[in-house]
Amino acid sequence: MKQAPLFAIVTGGCSGLGHATSSFLIAAGWEVCIFDINQEQGKQISFTLHPTRCSFKQVDVTNVESVEQAVNDLADERISLLVNCAGIAPAKRMLNRQGEAIALDDFAKVININLIGSFNVARLVAASMAKNEASNEDGQRGVIINTASVAGYEGQIGQTAYAASKAGLIGLTLPMARDLAASGIRVNSIAPGIMGTPMLLAMPENVQEGLASNVQHPKRLGLPEEFAKLALHIFENSYINGETIRLDGALRMPPK
Ligand SMILES: NC(=O)c1ccc[n+]([C@@H]2O[C@H](COP(=O)([O-])OP(=O)(O)OC[C@H]3O[C@@H](n4cnc5c(N)ncnc54)[C@H](O)[C@@H]3O)[C@@H](O)[C@H]2O)c1
Repeated sequence: MKQAPLFAIVTGGCSGLGHATSSFLIAAGWEVCIFDINQEQGKQISFTLHPTRCSFKQVDVTNVESVEQAVNDLADERISLLVNCAGIAPAKRMLNRQGEAIALDDFAKVININLIGSFNVARLVAASMAKNEASNEDGQRGVIINTASVAGYEGQIGQTAYAASKAGLIGLTLPMARDLAASGIRVNSIAPGIMGTPMLLAMPENVQEGLASNVQHPKRLGLPEEFAKLALHIFENSYINGETIRLDGALRMPPK
């Protein structure tokens, strides 16, 4: 009998790492639902990725009703994997040139999308995964992958909010894995270094070269496909749990 494709939710799937992950999973035979705030591009992008095995839901990860609605709409699906890629990375120093303090809202917005938004999707998808039949002899019901960043370990100048949001994701990886162990759900994070997503590739070549010069080996930006490959490996390797894996060519970020 033909087996149904595995089903994944990828947040932030309209761009960059989320887009590459969606594309990679689809090429591996998966069905993917993209949760992204970008309504304008979402439908077109999902159709281009695959007319039948990729779908799109307009979701703001920070909004409880928005995520609840989208997860409820998928009640008939057996969600095997969640990859949380939605995020923002604005840089702002604590004090500007005039010595004025950063607005608290600017800090809170980044924490809200990157940390609270990822948790919001994870908690609701975990409740759905917990109802799945176990898929292997280990009793696995689902896998959750959050996208942290090397900035969660060594944030640069202007990255107080971003670094705190990513350190938060690194910090919750183990307790989330512990909370969900009894439900057969594994939780891991990937901490990418500098990846060649549209955001970075739009920067002038000399800026890109400057960023890549701190990478030890290979001396280049990471490929979004390398992130996607690691996400699929984490899904397939049942013994990886409660861990954050750096994907950075041995990069250690300097202050700026
Ligand atoms: N690109 C890098 O070098 C790099 C390095 C380390 C970590 N990361 C992390 O990887 C993730 C993806 O980064 P990227 O470079 O692919 O970024 P990107 O800007 O290309 O894509 C982010 C996606 O998230 C979506 N999004 C933003 N806010 C949202 C919200 N509230 N609800 C739903 N969707 C929302 C955007 O519409 C976009 O499609 C981010 O969390 C980022 O912090 C990226």
